[in-house]
Amino acid sequence: MKKIVFLTGAGISAESGIRTFRDAGGLWEEYSIEDVCSVEGWHRNPKLVNAFYQERRRQLVGAKPNEAHRRVAQLEQDFQVVVVTQNVDDLHERAGSSTIIHLHGDLLTMCSSFNKEDLAQHVHLSLDNVEVPADARAADGSLLRPYIVWFGENVPKLEDAIDEIQSADIVVIIGTSLNVYPAAGLINYARPDAQLFLIDPNPVKLPRNLTVSVIQQTASQGMQTLCEHLSSLKL
Ligand code: APR
Repeated sequence: MKKIVFLTGAGISAESGIRTFRDAGGLWEEYSIEDVCSVEGWHRNPKLVNAFYQERRRQLVGAKPNEAHRRVAQLEQDFQVVVVTQNVDDLHERAGSSTIIHLHGDLLTMCSSFNKEDLAQHVHLSLDNVEVPADARAADGSLLRPYIVWFGENVPKLEDAIDEIQSADIVVIIGTSLNVYPAAGLINYARPDAQLFLIDPNPVKLPRNLTVSVIQQTASQGMQTLCEHLSSLKL
């Protein structure tokens, strides 16, 4: 069975009503990354940071997976599929994908602000209760923080993601501006014989040495185009 690895970003969730970061109307037009997505911002004003992520959890409650998430999940019938996502929403899970690597954490998990990788301190939220008091504490006594990888923090699952990309026959990049490293550099780990695709309605800067088939469409339309192409190859 051929292996497809998807590298997804905020754009795959745009049609579910989840804001992207760098498009017009994106989150970074309204909030400063330093204030809500950095360790310094957390130490400066943890209540502001918790309020920012509380707002994003509330938005997630009303969001649903879209056609693109569903098509990614459905491809598991004919391929070994791994989703490597920069997204912190649970829409790939809800669409039915079974192997997902969250590079930047996940909105529905809170963690210790002493050590975010101490799994014993993790608090898993469910969509029917996403409210967390801004002063809630972890079992270790620290202030609970969102289990999100902030700028300047390491990406614990990076090696796993590299392993998956290196063993992929097909790599599909969907809905990411490829602005943020190390996630944006993952495509360079694709095998020379792997087929590379990019789905995005806007132009995205790609490494010049790579041959990438660009499908300049939204995620839902682009996934339909991709699926038609894959079935024509009878891979
Ligand atoms: N379908 C597909 N792609 C879309 C759609 C759509 N309907 N709408 C927008 N896009 C594309 C944009 O053209 C852009 O290339 O999605 C991409 C969104 O880029 P960003 O907003 O930069 O989001 P992303 O690349 O996921 O950001 C990476 O930055 O702030 C950090 O941690 C945060 O994980 C995030 C990381």
